[in-house]
Amino acid sequence: MRAWKQTALTLGLVAVSSVGLAQPAPPSDAQVKSRVDALVAQMSLEEKVGQLTQAGGISFGGGPGPEEALRRGGAGSVLWVNDTKRFNELQKIAVDESRLRIPVLYGLDVIHGYRTIFPIPLAMASSWDPSVHERAAEVAAREARAAGIHWTFAPMLDIARDARWGRIAEGAGEDPYLGAAMAAAQVRGFQGPYLGAPDRLLACAKHFAAYGAADGGRYYDPVYVSEGQLRNVYFPPFAAAVKAGVGSFMSAYMDLNDVPAAANPWLLRDVLRGEWGFSGFVVSDAIAVRNLVIQGLARDGKDAAARALAAGLDMDMASGTFAQNLVALVKDGVLREAQIDDAVRRILAVKVRLGLFEQPYADEARAAAVFADPEHREAARRAAQRSMVLLRNENKLLPLPQSLTNVAVIGPLADSKADTEGSWMVFGHVPAAVTVLEGIRARLRGARVAHAPGPEIRREVPSFFEDFIPGPKKPAQTKEQAEAAFQQALETARGAGLVIAVMGELANMSGEAASRSSLELPGRQQELLQAIVALGKPVVLVLMGGRPLSIGWAAENVPAILEAWQPGTEGGHAVADVLFGDVNPGGKLPVTFPRNAGHSPLYYTGPMAGDEVAQLYVHQKSGSDSRPSRELKGFRRVSLKPGETQTVAFPLGPEELRYWSTSQRRWLQEAAAFDVWVGGDSTAALHADLSVVP
Ligand code: BGC
Repeated sequence: MRAWKQTALTLGLVAVSSVGLAQPAPPSDAQVKSRVDALVAQMSLEEKVGQLTQAGGISFGGGPGPEEALRRGGAGSVLWVNDTKRFNELQKIAVDESRLRIPVLYGLDVIHGYRTIFPIPLAMASSWDPSVHERAAEVAAREARAAGIHWTFAPMLDIARDARWGRIAEGAGEDPYLGAAMAAAQVRGFQGPYLGAPDRLLACAKHFAAYGAADGGRYYDPVYVSEGQLRNVYFPPFAAAVKAGVGSFMSAYMDLNDVPAAANPWLLRDVLRGEWGFSGFVVSDAIAVRNLVIQGLARDGKDAAARALAAGLDMDMASGTFAQNLVALVKDGVLREAQIDDAVRRILAVKVRLGLFEQPYADEARAAAVFADPEHREAARRAAQRSMVLLRNENKLLPLPQSLTNVAVIGPLADSKADTEGSWMVFGHVPAAVTVLEGIRARLRGARVAHAPGPEIRREVPSFFEDFIPGPKKPAQTKEQAEAAFQQALETARGAGLVIAVMGELANMSGEAASRSSLELPGRQQELLQAIVALGKPVVLVLMGGRPLSIGWAAENVPAILEAWQPGTEGGHAVADVLFGDVNPGGKLPVTFPRNAGHSPLYYTGPMAGDEVAQLYVHQKSGSDSRPSRELKGFRRVSLKPGETQTVAFPLGPEELRYWSTSQRRWLQEAAAFDVWVGGDSTAALHADLSVVP
């Protein structure tokens, strides 16, 4: 179908049904407990501490690998390996050579796909369709599990309201309600109906908590937020993950109100276990236990280990601080062995539930067949289609006619596989994405589709992750080379009837250690875009990247703008599907686009374009505390045929109307007057008054 659909929404009541799937039964709690008890009873203190230790499978700086630790039961988990053969080799040491033969738990960052790469999480939140994110996590789990991975360090659930913070790419954006829905969907997708379901992974809700509120949007900086902000804004996705049954949590790096999250008993014990009843285990972020010394909390490594464990942290990721100190801390009487046992039990219970004792190895032959499943690419294409947001479309420039004969595809991101897949592609991953150029060429067979990248873009300060990428580094373009590339891009645009500019950020400009102080298009892209628009031809801007950008000039001067984010393996096909009208770009922004980085942090101020997501907002007019001007409390993405009307129902009860009161330090649902709005975006105007009476 060529034309995009017009939408019409009304609100009312619909029946809700649920579908139950028959699945094999997981072991009972009593069965898990008796296996764990039997193991713990045989373990030495050293072996117990081993289970609380996660070792790096590759050594940074030439240290020893994890073999020796595995042999003596000194590492219960390994991370940063990405090779099925190597998984099996290491597992064989744990299973055949260690005294108690406890299998090792492999963890890796499987964030938005493993071999088949899906759009980044921020993009998938733009779908406003949790089923898209659930399916992506399911496919990622299937591929990663086939490769030998048991545990993903995902979902990332940090609400982020400052676009300068690079990790905004990894989460669901600024809204806690949408974030909670996406959190639950990902847990369901990664873990399946129960922990240990076939072809699934153990999920890890990270980074607990409020990492996204880092001062100034600088990546590991401290966070100062009120308890009200924590409970009303930053906690809801984490609470939703617990409710969905997530098996593990990762503590955040930074200081939270002057107490580092990795040694924060209020966070890890009182809230997570006490209030929410979380029964899985908590791992630190990488090297975070050792960092407690640098953060000025702990005197030394021994103090750091004691304080982290006492606060409720169960596993030390890659710092060796538990391994070096916990035995002595028990012998010195600083910690009780029962405290160690509690942590060991939580980790062993997860290993039992995952079925690792029965099936410790990966089947190397099966992995390739799983990766090649065509349904995975179909799911990735659909996810990318659903994630795209139409930001502008003047004079119905889009959709483009299939009859185009002479098109120029310009920009540094137009033909870059790595930047189409996006961030978190580490440890030997080979990008296999269809680029936007390839997608458009595949669509316009027989037409002239010229390409020029223009001047290169690159980070001003290299990322420390670049040290882990093997091979020689590409030297930067000289000024003269950049100028020649600029002129060539302009010439290519001049020779075409229509220009598709593919611009934005490189994959390594967002994600971890990728904060920016400016949100402008990097390099000379803005200048090139202006020069192309000045040619007087129709121009479509396809934006790619991992964060909102300041596109004020483009928003007024480029007739059509599509936000494609980092769209993954099928990204180029999906962009073409949208540009040529096969699918409706019905996504909505889950974050505000600031006009300028100086406006950060920012939430609910910006216009949203698109259609087909019914949304409900509330505002409590007065009460014990002042309340936000609008809060999202319901959404549903619906597909409508031209002229069709659908009815969408949202419950509005105590769950939606309560909040954490800072003045009273408790949850409140007050007898008060509320505004209620419904519509297609956060400026929804259809209004009703609602009164809650005592
Ligand atoms: C990141 C985590 C990640 C971990 C393991 C850390 O640097 O903050 O998100 O899961 O590394 O790779």
